[in-house]
Amino acid sequence: MAKITVIGSASMDLVVTSATRPGAGETVLGDSFKTVPGGKGANQAVAAARLGAEVTMIGRVGDDSFGRVILNNLKGNGIVADYVEPVTDMESGTAHIILAEGDNSIVFVKAANDLVTPDYVDRAAEVIQGSDIVLIQQEIPEETVVHVSDLCAKYGVPLILNPAPARPVPQSVIERAAYITPNEHEALVLFGEEPLGDVLRRYPNKLIVTEGKKGVRYYDGSQEVIVPGYKVEAVDTTGAGDTFNGAFAVALAEGMSLSDSLDFANRAAALSVTKFGAQGGMPTRREVEGGALR
Ligand code: RIB
Ligand code: NA
Repeated sequence: MAKITVIGSASMDLVVTSATRPGAGETVLGDSFKTVPGGKGANQAVAAARLGAEVTMIGRVGDDSFGRVILNNLKGNGIVADYVEPVTDMESGTAHIILAEGDNSIVFVKAANDLVTPDYVDRAAEVIQGSDIVLIQQEIPEETVVHVSDLCAKYGVPLILNPAPARPVPQSVIERAAYITPNEHEALVLFGEEPLGDVLRRYPNKLIVTEGKKGVRYYDGSQEVIVPGYKVEAVDTTGAGDTFNGAFAVALAEGMSLSDSLDFANRAAALSVTKFGAQGGMPTRREVEGGALR
C-alpha cells in the first residue's frame, strides 16, 4: 500500500448556496446552508485514503465542536489522525463558501491551522521519513512549507507542493519539491508574467499546471504535454484540485508513470465535482477505474 503523509489544513466548510452573489453592502436570499468537513489538507488526505492509500495527516484543529467533527471525519475515512492535535482555547479553521452563479467564492479563516508550525511537524519526523510521498499546501504557515521541503530533501522523500491558495513560494521550495501543481492563477503568482511555456520548460516533469476541465500541462524534457480532463455535469467544483492532488500522490506512490498518474488524477477530480461538498463525490478506486468517464 502506498504510504502518504499529508501536512496541511483541516477546516469546517460553511457553505451557502444562492442564485446570486451579494455585492458590497447588498443582501440576497440564499437557498441552503450546510456544514461539511473541508480544508485543503484534510481534503487531499481523504481523496488519497478513498483511493486505497495508507494516509497519515499532520495538522491541527480547535478544541471546539467543529474540531471534533473534523477529527471523526478523518478517522472515519481511515486516516491516521494521531498528529492532528486540538489546540486549547482556539477555534478550528473555517472556510466560508458561497456557491452562486456556477462558481464558488471562499473566505478562509486559518485559526488552529496557523499552529501547524515547523516544531509541531518535527514531532512527526519519523512518519515523514517513512512515507512514499508527502503532500503539502498553503493554508498553513510558509515557514512550515519551507521546513517540510528541507526535511523531505534530507530524507529523500518526494514532496508534492500544491501551492494553493496562491502566494509566492521561496525558490528553495521550488527547487526541492518533486512536483508543483498550481492552477493558472497560482502559476502567475509563483512565476509572474513570463510565458507559461517557458516556465514549464524550466521545470520539466516537475511543474504541472492544472487548467480545470481542460486538463493539465507539463514539459516532459522534449515537448509540452497536455493530459486532457474529462467533461462531467458539475454540481460543485470545491475540492476538485484537492481530489486531483490526493489522487496524483496515490498514483505516483504506486509507481505509475507521470502521464498515467495525471490521467488518474484527472479522472478522480472529474468524478468529485459531480456531488456537493469538497469531499462529497471523491471517488473510490473502483469508481475511478470503472467506465463512468470517457
Ligand atoms: O480546496 C477547497 C478547500 O479550500 C475547501 O474545502 C475549503 O476549506 C477551502 O479553504
Ligand atoms: Na464535490
